Amino acid sequence: MKNIYLVGFMGSGKSTVGKILAEKLNMNFIDIDKFIEEKEGMKIKDIFEQKGESYFRELERKQIEAIVNQEGLVVSTGGGLGANLDNMNLMKKNGDVVWLDVSLNTVLDRLKNDQDRPLLKQPTEKIKQLFEERKNVYRLANIRINADKKTPSQIVEEILTKIK
Ligand code: S3P
Repeated sequence: MKNIYLVGFMGSGKSTVGKILAEKLNMNFIDIDKFIEEKEGMKIKDIFEQKGESYFRELERKQIEAIVNQEGLVVSTGGGLGANLDNMNLMKKNGDVVWLDVSLNTVLDRLKNDQDRPLLKQPTEKIKQLFEERKNVYRLANIRINADKKTPSQIVEEILTKIK
């Protein structure tokens, strides 16, 4: 079975949806952010602070390179991983990439009290810019789900109708 990759902006529901989807399809689930935190023994925000964003991006790249050699996985990616063109192409070669498309308002509302995401600690204008820029890559996904104002179960049902 081909891998299924969930991409989208922070707060789009990739991890929650990924877990349910994997259960439904009887596939293994991997959350790349969690995996990196376990491997490094550090929270992502500390990796950003102490080692820098580019170091984190390299870790993401290594993980996705390893994962594309496996099969039968539902993979939840960090918001930046799926916004990178090389990563996107790599994932598309080896599976279905599903973009959970949500509005910026939904993101900002869901994550208004979040303390764990370094990139949200910038002015809203900057977040908006990042959000718009990233869509240029997310939109290359094989499947787009309008995930705004839908429950995780509804989103999973929609994904199931769209994957081959
Ligand atoms: C990031 C998103 C986060 C995490 C890190 C960087 C990003 O994951 O990987 O804070 O660049 O958008 P989520 O998309 O799960 O929030």
